[in-house]
Amino acid sequence: MPCDEKLCWLPFLQDVPGDAGGPAELAQKELAGNAALLGGKSAAVSLLPGAGDGYEILERDGNYLVRGGETGVLYGAYRLLTDCYRGESPLRPWTMPAFSLRMLNHWDNMDGSVERGYAGKSLFFAEDRFAYDPARIRRYGRLLASIGVNAVCINNVNVHAPADQLITERLLPKTAALADLLRPFGVRLLLAVDYALPVTQGLPTADPLDEKVQAFWNRQCDLIYQYIPDFLGFLVKADSEFRPGPFLYHRSHAEGANLLARALKPHGGKVIWRCFVYNCRQDWRDHATDRPMAAYRHYAPLDGQFEDNVILQVKNGPYDFQVREPASPLFYAMPNTVKALEVQLAQEYTGQQIDLYYMPPMWEEWLSQVPDLPDHICAVSNLGNDENWTGHFLAQANLYAYGRFAWLGRAFDGKAAAREWIALTLGSDFPETERLLSMLLRSRGVYEKYTSPLGLCWMVNISHHYGPSPEGYEFSLWGTYHRADYLAVGIDRTEKGTGYTRQYPKELAEQYESMDTCPEEMLLFFHRVRYDHMLRDGRTLLQRIYDDHFEGAEEAEGLLKDWVALQPVLPDGIYAHTLDRFRRQVQNAREWRDVINTYFHRFTGTPDAKGRTIYD
Ligand code: GCU
Repeated sequence: MPCDEKLCWLPFLQDVPGDAGGPAELAQKELAGNAALLGGKSAAVSLLPGAGDGYEILERDGNYLVRGGETGVLYGAYRLLTDCYRGESPLRPWTMPAFSLRMLNHWDNMDGSVERGYAGKSLFFAEDRFAYDPARIRRYGRLLASIGVNAVCINNVNVHAPADQLITERLLPKTAALADLLRPFGVRLLLAVDYALPVTQGLPTADPLDEKVQAFWNRQCDLIYQYIPDFLGFLVKADSEFRPGPFLYHRSHAEGANLLARALKPHGGKVIWRCFVYNCRQDWRDHATDRPMAAYRHYAPLDGQFEDNVILQVKNGPYDFQVREPASPLFYAMPNTVKALEVQLAQEYTGQQIDLYYMPPMWEEWLSQVPDLPDHICAVSNLGNDENWTGHFLAQANLYAYGRFAWLGRAFDGKAAAREWIALTLGSDFPETERLLSMLLRSRGVYEKYTSPLGLCWMVNISHHYGPSPEGYEFSLWGTYHRADYLAVGIDRTEKGTGYTRQYPKELAEQYESMDTCPEEMLLFFHRVRYDHMLRDGRTLLQRIYDDHFEGAEEAEGLLKDWVALQPVLPDGIYAHTLDRFRRQVQNAREWRDVINTYFHRFTGTPDAKGRTIYD
């Protein structure tokens, strides 16, 4: 059953103005077009040249005044409208975002598919062409502007032809048309590029030190800026998972990134260079190579060697968007390099927008671990062309919360963001806020329990990353192992093991190094632990694994029950569509519980202390 797309978090606003102009003009139009929300007051916009994203909301002669930079006034206008709608005082002192670039990365292919996409097809492409409804793109732009997202990459980091042509003469006019549509919303375009483009365009090499290659990229950038004067730059996945890169030419990633950076610099463009680089052809028998150590090893020695318009984009954890990982050691290193945090809204390993999974608790944990915030932030998009945008209606809350996180940084509060999202989406008088809030806030913990608790990771189906397969990755080449046997499970990443803990600053390294001080929820990430090891609450590791899986499956049923209780207060379409997802989640949770518990029972022969059923 379809559910009404208008019920994203701005259903109370009038249609998006078609002839928007620039962001400041759009701000004025939005305020005028939705004046009914302002409680009898009017709202004016006052531009402070050079103030960029910053804004304040003041009262002047009994009316509102939004004062700020060109994009700032637009953000202020949406804040004013949404606060008024929620019945909150919209007045606020000067505010600036915590992260300068607040990016969204779509992993969309031009055939219309979305890599790790769980909300239908691409919003931008179909059949190897641009294919979109401009009205929907405007709604998309408004959604992004309302949460302060200011840059998007529309194509997959794995650049498949013909997406490599997005920056060539052939497709640039079309690429520029999309950039034009997004510009009024303060959203700038990034494009993922193929490092080997010079070769596919006829040069014998893509070596960054080759003068012809340098001239190629210079020409290419001159051309791009003729079409898109405010083009933000390139997103690059190089030497990772079979993508070409500078290693092919025995050049460092600094040399590789600087090639593109120098071509973009005269135009004010940037290179967003991803640090997701590791050996994806590892021999599982090799215990010395430890995948989470790879990014730090590649990049930390290059600190200070990058051009100042290069931004290193680092995934939140050292592995790959697992349910529980420590912050990547790169966030404590490379003080002379500009960085961006990359999080994933697409629920690749976190329930695929079938299971409920509200992400902010993970971001709050990350904040608690990392003392210095990077300059920029990026999220892998969870959007698609599904009517409700995100497949699972409640997954919209993750995108909303991401915008708040990107604006507020340390001041971010996932609970407050969820409250706002509920009020904006379902009405400021929604009678079941507390129930829905509780569902969102406990969802991550529930999912973690029935999948792989204690930082275990990688017990998922290897092909599509949904559902349990405890040894799916165990004998693979991807560097992703838990090495369970009859006595113990987990990887020893201490000094005595792979030495991964050494990549952290001393104090943190010491904390992770000892089983006594390592946060228990990450125990199996850092340590190899015997099943009979006593945890802090007196349970054995094995019993804790059993308990978590039983509890997780039960709590998934609790989420379903809560959803059923919401039926009277929800629109029918949304209720029914999401009900189906909760039912599937319950099935998934039972599957996980039974497979994982059986797996460990077979190894250990030790039954559940509470006598619950484990299928052998
Ligand atoms: C994961 C994901 C890939 C993706 C990659 C990346 O490995 O499964 O689909 O391409 O991350 O972030 O580049």
